[in-house]
Amino acid sequence: MSSQDRTVTAFAPASVGNVGVGFDVLGHAIDGVGDRVTLTGIDGAEVCLRSVAGVVSELPRVPEENTALRALLAMQRRFDLKTGAAVGIEKGIPMGSGMGGSAASAVAAVTAAAEFWGLDLTPAQRLRFALQGEEAASGALHADNVAPSLLGGLVLCGPGDPPTATRLPVPAGIACVLVHPQIEIKTRDARRMLLPKVDLGDHVRQTMAISGFVAGCYRGDLEMIGRCLRDFVIEPQRQGLVPGFRGVQTAAMDAGALGCSLSGSGPSIFAWCAEPDAAAVRTGMLGGFSKEGVECDAWVSAVDAPGARIETVG
Ligand code: HSE
Repeated sequence: MSSQDRTVTAFAPASVGNVGVGFDVLGHAIDGVGDRVTLTGIDGAEVCLRSVAGVVSELPRVPEENTALRALLAMQRRFDLKTGAAVGIEKGIPMGSGMGGSAASAVAAVTAAAEFWGLDLTPAQRLRFALQGEEAASGALHADNVAPSLLGGLVLCGPGDPPTATRLPVPAGIACVLVHPQIEIKTRDARRMLLPKVDLGDHVRQTMAISGFVAGCYRGDLEMIGRCLRDFVIEPQRQGLVPGFRGVQTAAMDAGALGCSLSGSGPSIFAWCAEPDAAAVRTGMLGGFSKEGVECDAWVSAVDAPGARIETVG
C-alpha cells in the first residue's frame, strides 16, 4: 500500500479541567463525547486540514493556530519526518465549551499520528506533543485537559517537563454530571481575567482542599471528597461569565451532589455525585439553566472514563 492510501483514525474524549479543586493540575475524562481525527497519506511532506465535521463547521487552517495541526507539526519536526498527511477533524466537543475540546483534538491527532508514522512514543512524549498543540488555544501550557484525555480517568499533574501525570484512584460509584449551556467562552480570555496574585488565606484553604481531595480519593472516602471539592480562588473570579451559575450549583448540591463547579474555564458546569443521585442532579442543574432561558446539553459519565484510542487503521 502506498502512503497515500494509508488512513488512521483516533478518538480522544472530552475532559473536565480543574475539577474545581485543582486549578491547572487536576482533570478527568468524560465518556460519550469527544473529538475524532483522521490522518490520510498525501503526496508530499505537508500537514494540512482536509475537512471539519461534527458540531463545529470551521477551524483554523493555519497549522500554528490549529491545536491538532500544531501537535502534528511538532512531531514532524522532532522526528524529521518527510511524509505529510491530510487531516480530517470531527468535533464532538463544542468550541469554547470548557470541555477540553482543543485538548481532545490535539490528543486525537497525536494518537493517530503515532500509529500513522509508526512511532513508538512514551505517554510522556505523547503528552508533550499534545500540549504543544493545545498551547495554540489557551496561550499557556496546562495539562489538566490534555493528560486525562490522553490517559483516561482522574489525573493529577505534578512538576516536570512535561508535567508528571498520575492517575488517581476513583472510589467506585461516583458519577460526573456535565452540563453545557450553549454559550462560548474562550479559555484564553478566561485566563487573562484572573488576578495575578492569590490571597494567603485562600491559598491555605485551597491547599487544604486539594490535599484532602487527593487523600479522599486514595482512602475511597466520598464524604471527604465532597468536603474538599471546593474552589476558593478561581470560581469566585469566573462565575459571573456563566448566567445562573449560583442557581445551577445550588440545585446540584440540593439534589445531593458531592461538589459542583465550573468545568475548566466554563461555561460548562460539572457536578460529582453518587451514581444513584445522578438523574436528580442532572435535572436540578438543567432546571437552574432553564430559569435563565439558556439551552443546554448534558452528559452523565463515569469519572474513571477511558482515554484516547485508535479506532480504525486502513
Ligand atoms: N485549567 C484551565 C483553565 C482549563 O481553567 O484555564 C481550561 O479548560
